[in-house]
Amino acid sequence: MPDDSLTLEDIIVPVDSLHGKVDWTQLFGNDHPVELEIGTGKGTFLINAARVNPQINYLGIEWANKYYKYAADRARRWNLPNVRMLRCDARDFVISHLPSRSLQCLHVYFPDPWPKKRHHKRRLFNNQFVAAAVDSLIPDGCIHVVTDVRDYFQLIKPLLARCSQLQLGDFTPRETAGLGEWVGTNFERKYLAEGRTIYSCSVQKIHDHHD
Ligand SMILES: C[S@@+](CC[C@H](N)C(=O)[O-])C[C@H]1O[C@@H](n2cnc3c(N)ncnc32)[C@H](O)[C@@H]1O
Repeated sequence: MPDDSLTLEDIIVPVDSLHGKVDWTQLFGNDHPVELEIGTGKGTFLINAARVNPQINYLGIEWANKYYKYAADRARRWNLPNVRMLRCDARDFVISHLPSRSLQCLHVYFPDPWPKKRHHKRRLFNNQFVAAAVDSLIPDGCIHVVTDVRDYFQLIKPLLARCSQLQLGDFTPRETAGLGEWVGTNFERKYLAEGRTIYSCSVQKIHDHHD
């Protein structure tokens, strides 16, 4: 019987293999729709989403070495050919390597809030990141964001809302979510257990005159 089980090398994308814009068809070996999750942590959302949607390709980015390896190993154990993991700074990746009009969805769940004012510049969401992220979406493509940090959310939502190519919609719980959850990530489960308020928003890219 052929052994079609995956190895870590099938899942991990070495950062030094990136040159210019990513060729999704080459990366995944097919032309299925692509979704990106930034800051996968241990990969709970990414793995569950990839299991439910085998016809969607999922790229996860995580810069913490321990978690990125853990998430990649989970994808290997579940034998998910539609998952790739990349260890790098997601903002650099989005700005430098995401092709225009190619992503079906961008997921950002519980981005690091960097609460100290002098660290705010390290936050993922800024004008440059949002512009590149929006450019990478296909028409009707979405960005989903969930956080427990009110002041960061109050920055993220207007950044997205004032982009003329986006329309704000309601966040509907993802199909990976359990009862009372929005997404079903490890941080969400921890924060819900602590009784924290969770903030969420979804935006969709509108068609322009080129579509
Ligand atoms: C608060 S944790 C949330 C993890 C997961 N999304 C969850 O909800 O359980 C944020 C994660 O994003 C990763 N991260 C933060 N900024 C990043 C960046 N610029 N590029 C890649 N990963 C990043 C961190 O290493 C961390 O694992």
